[in-house]
Amino acid sequence: KGELIVLGIETSCDETAAAVVRLGRDGRSEVLSSVVHSQTEDHAPFGGVVPEIAARSHVETIAPTVERALADAGVGWDGITGVAATAGPGLVGGVMVGLSFGKAAALARGLPLIAVNHLEGHAVSARLGAEAPYPFLLLLVSGGHCQLLEVRGVGEVTRLGATIDDAAGEAFDKIAKALGLGYPGGPALERLAEGGDPARFELPRALLGRKDMDFSFSGLKTAAFRLVETCETDQDRADLAAAVQAAIARQLTERTERAMADYAQRHDHRLLVVAGGVAANRTIRARLEAAAGRHGFRFTAPPLAFCTDNAAMIAQAGAERLARGERSDIDAVARPRWPL
Ligand code: KG4
Ligand code: ZN
Repeated sequence: KGELIVLGIETSCDETAAAVVRLGRDGRSEVLSSVVHSQTEDHAPFGGVVPEIAARSHVETIAPTVERALADAGVGWDGITGVAATAGPGLVGGVMVGLSFGKAAALARGLPLIAVNHLEGHAVSARLGAEAPYPFLLLLVSGGHCQLLEVRGVGEVTRLGATIDDAAGEAFDKIAKALGLGYPGGPALERLAEGGDPARFELPRALLGRKDMDFSFSGLKTAAFRLVETCETDQDRADLAAAVQAAIARQLTERTERAMADYAQRHDHRLLVVAGGVAANRTIRARLEAAAGRHGFRFTAPPLAFCTDNAAMIAQAGAERLARGERSDIDAVARPRWPL
């Protein structure tokens, strides 16, 4: 029939995830199921992800998570035409769990395996059931990455800029931790910022005067750490949270505006996509959408559930590669580092 029904597996950080995605011959995809088992509670007492705990938890959870994804999709193994598993970048112990499970399933069922780059998953996440035709300009903002990419197709990516120190999500998480908000910090900081005045605290602007499309969040982080010490009331903390969120949003928007101007010289089809966990932040989405409007770009972002780590995006990336006739070797290795 030419349609692909791909099982996706994601275990690169602290979510054990499995999903089934159908990619039709017309190139449209449909998420048949998406199951995400978050380990947040296992890691919360430590204030961050503990790799050894994550790997063990993936081992315990992967099989039932995959079974549930198949059941939710209403397909058995016989209905699956390919297996896509994250092969990196990420915590290598966890990556090995999902990749090995994917290999075993592919071998046992005689299915093609696609070893997927997690970042490529985020890059195609806006295409899950939505309108995001290639090419597009992508702001990828997650806990581990902050990059501006020109995406011409799956695996056809040019990097226009990237963070020179922390990722945006990392800055959210570390400042949230200093504010006593626990882990993961991004969503908690967003909630706290709702009642805050973003204009009360002055935060430094990074890389002023630089004409490139890189990011830096370490100066902002250091300044925020110092200001946390001066906070006495809940209102003080809310004001600081609002200032931090506004500063991160401003930097992301400024750099993306520069990238839009650059990108527009090469492409008539103007689409800005924001993806990754930080794309779940409503203030950031709104700022980017407004900036896109100013530059004549259409704007789209994945539904919130596909911004943070999930396996549907991995299945989507795998399905697009399979559709091009690609498949990975069964001895594909897990890669802790794997730049796009
Ligand atoms: O994409 P993701 O789930 O995992 C990585 O591949 O890194 O991104 C997780 C990151 C965390 O840093 C988390 O704090 C941040 O995304 N995040 C948010 C929000 N939701 C998640 N940051 C700001 N506002 C949010 N609403
Ligand atoms: Zn991610």
